[in-house]
Amino acid sequence: MSVSGKKVCFMTGASGKLGSEIALAIAGQGYSIFFTWQHSEKKAKETLEKIRWVSPESQMVRCDVSNIAEIEKAFAIFSEHFNRLDLLITSASNFFRTPLLDVTEPEWDSLVDTNLKGAFFTMQQASRIMLKQPFVSRIITMTDISANLVWRNYAPYTVSKSGIQHLTRIFAKEMAPKILVNSIAPGTISAYSGRDEEPEADLVGKIPLERLGDPMDIVMAIRFLMETEYITGQVINVDGGRMLF
Ligand SMILES: NC(=O)c1ccc[n+]([C@@H]2O[C@H](COP(=O)([O-])OP(=O)(O)OC[C@H]3O[C@@H](n4cnc5c(N)ncnc54)[C@H](OP(=O)(O)O)[C@@H]3O)[C@@H](O)[C@H]2O)c1
Repeated sequence: MSVSGKKVCFMTGASGKLGSEIALAIAGQGYSIFFTWQHSEKKAKETLEKIRWVSPESQMVRCDVSNIAEIEKAFAIFSEHFNRLDLLITSASNFFRTPLLDVTEPEWDSLVDTNLKGAFFTMQQASRIMLKQPFVSRIITMTDISANLVWRNYAPYTVSKSGIQHLTRIFAKEMAPKILVNSIAPGTISAYSGRDEEPEADLVGKIPLERLGDPMDIVMAIRFLMETEYITGQVINVDGGRMLF
């Protein structure tokens, strides 16, 4: 099936807590969605079911983004369903605590291969399609304000997110003017942070806007980047001012 006319979004990690809400919001903007998941089949199916209420042609595929062959396969399946690509969102991400002196090679590889290598090869595949199209398309990477903070116990994760921010700038420069490439760096989003070291009150105390983020705060920033025509290579911190602290 190919769908002409309607805009199409390829998104990794739409079975995630925040990722699923982003995918639903993009579908609500009139896009067909093709998304990937890895382990969370139930959540992926629930998300696809909701997306199909507004975008019945949407599809999902299982894909380990740390494996280049799986990324290539996902794009091959994508191309069987859709004949255009307007928007790539790289949201697939691995996140767990890794005390600096205890980091193992498998932990490093799991975090960096999923987050950084996976984002790179997904962006590469998408760019090859996007560059051939007679219209401007967009890539939005999902990073984290921790890319520019020095958190204890999360070195591979924060390094991977820093790397994606730099990849965002590299792709923005090399793919201009055909592809606009920007990044969203969330702060702590409601109950989704997964970081177990700081109680909520301590976290809020470091946020000038005096609350944790809401998924809709991220969705609004993504919608802005989906529409804007003169911004590329930027990272938008959606963090209630946390980086000012
Ligand atoms: N939520 C927050 O507070 C917050 C804060 C800062 C940054 N962010 C960033 O925002 C984005 C969305 O966050 P989220 O809350 O949706 O994260 P999440 O709930 O942890 O979900 C992670 C997603 O990545 C997928 N994934 C993990 N490893 C994968 C792999 N090897 N191959 C393919 N997919 C893989 C998961 O798929 P399965 O579950 O199907 O395995 C899931 O869809 C992420 O990039 C995250 O780093 C979030």
